[in-house]
This record gives sequence, structure tokens and C-alpha cells, in this order.
Amino acid sequence: MGFELEFIDIKMETLAIDGDLLKSKIKSDKNIRAVFLTHAQGINGLTKEIYECCKEHNVILIEDVCESHGVQVDQLTKAGAKGDLSCFSYYYAHHMSTIEGGMICTNDEKIYEYIRMLRGHGMLREARGAQIKLQYEQQYPDLNPMFIFTTPGFNVRNNEIGAIIGLSQLKRLDQMIVRRNENFQYFLRRLPNWAFKDFNLEGQSNYALNVILKEPNADLMIKLEKALEMNEIEYRRGSAGGGNQLRQPYIRNMEKFKYIDCKKFAPITDHIHFYGLYLGNYPDLQISDIDEILQVINSI
Ligand SMILES: Cc1ncc(COP(=O)(O)O)c(C=O)c1O
Repeated sequence: MGFELEFIDIKMETLAIDGDLLKSKIKSDKNIRAVFLTHAQGINGLTKEIYECCKEHNVILIEDVCESHGVQVDQLTKAGAKGDLSCFSYYYAHHMSTIEGGMICTNDEKIYEYIRMLRGHGMLREARGAQIKLQYEQQYPDLNPMFIFTTPGFNVRNNEIGAIIGLSQLKRLDQMIVRRNENFQYFLRRLPNWAFKDFNLEGQSNYALNVILKEPNADLMIKLEKALEMNEIEYRRGSAGGGNQLRQPYIRNMEKFKYIDCKKFAPITDHIHFYGLYLGNYPDLQISDIDEILQVINSI
């Protein structure tokens, strides 16, 4: 959309943007327009200082809650409610699913209308408000109001089958979150001491069973991965979609990031990229299954 990207390292405890780094970035760069904050792995990433910093500097806050449905940001607020925009994914690995699909939340009427149009080929008829419709109809009297394409768009409309599946899961969402959290707490308590355990779990809604080495140790990592593979336990390296995004071709081939020293620039993200992985968590996962996984990990 013509914006330039900037990256900020994360904090290990939250797996989300480091508030101090964000503050100094926003203070030193007056061009920052929006912050994209991912609540990773079901851990709350939105601290009071991040929220207040965005408000104070009039920076749009976008919360990615795709893998963290139900996270409590504070006693009264769930993740996705404070940001100007927030997105949720209903992909089938997540807390609730419509097989594919998702949801965007906003309190801004203009953004709401724009997003409605964007998901349906950019067509005006997808907008809800009478005012916006009238405005376009008057501005483009030579066009059939049923077919006014206001913006380049997508076709990402959900369908009724997805809705039925989603609505039935919504009823059980809170219950499923409790189970996921219990699984993770059980798992975390029994991990060996070489694993990082100090996640900030207040208000969590666990997505996955995280294993991050406290210290860089390539040998240990190889052993861990081999042991999991030999026991047919599926895992994902890097702890969230592809680890350090600065290492992914879609970013690293941009001129701006071509020569960046990933390790120096974002040491925590880069540590997790090489020494972190996660295993699937889901409400039906039994304690006996978790014990089996723990046995493999603890045997290394
Ligand atoms: C944090 C995060 N953001 C975005 C997405 C993308 O969601 P979707 O596959 O529904 O587009 C995912 C998917 O796993 C995710 O975990």
C-alpha cells in the first residue's frame, strides 16, 4: 500500500513487540503511522505502555489476534478490542475454526465500510451505510449502483457452511481456552531446565506448546528435533509462522533489508528462529499425550 516497513524486536516473555524499543522508535521517527502487533501463541502482547504510546503519538494500532482468540489484555478487555483494527483467523489450527476464514474488528465506520467492500471485489453494494452509497451514486451517475467498484478488492467472503461451523464452536470457545491453558501449564511445568519458562501467562489463551532454549545450543536443538521426528511428533521451527520474518524471501529481497544483520538487529527474534519450536495444542489433547511428548523431550 506504499508504506515502508520497519521492524522491532520482541520480548521473550510476551513473544510480542518490545514496548521500550517501540517507544524510542516512535519518538525518533515521526513518520511512523501504524503499529502491527501480533499476539503470538496465545500470549497477551499488548501492554499498557504500547497502547498509551500509540494513543499519545496518534499512531494506528493494528492487533493480530489470529492465533490468540480470547486473550485478556486486562480485566475488562480482550485482545482485539483496543486496537483501531484487529484481525482474527478461523484457520483450522486456531482456537475456533470455520475451516478457512477470519474476522476483522474495528470501531471506525469508514474502515468498516471500506473493509466490507474490500472483501467483495471492492463493490459499493457490499457497504452498509446509506450515506456512502448515495455519495458514490451521485458522483458516478453513469454507473449501475449495483456494480460500482470503488477499490481494487478481493473475494474473501465467508459462506454459510463456515458460519454454521463457527457459530457452533463459538459456544464452546471459553471452555476450549481453559483446556488449552491447562495443557500448556502442565507441559511448561515439566519441561527441562534448559527451556525458557518465564512467559507472561496472565490472561493467556494458549495456542501452542512452546519450547525455546534458554541459551543458543545448536547440538541440543538438533537432538531435540531428531527425537521429536523419530517419535513422529510434529513440530514447527521458529515458534511462529516461519520465525524471523527478516530472513524470509519476501522481506530479505527488499533492498532496505538485504544487508541487515538479523542477529544484531533483532537478537531475541533471531534466537527463537534458531532455538525455538512449538508443538500443537488443542482441547482434546490428553495428559497422557503430553506425558508422552515430555518423556521424549526429557530423555535428551
Ligand atoms: C499470527 C497470525 N496471523 C495471521 C495468520 C493468517 O491467518 P489466515 O491463515 O486465516 O489467513 C496466522 C495463521 O496462522 C497467524 O497465526
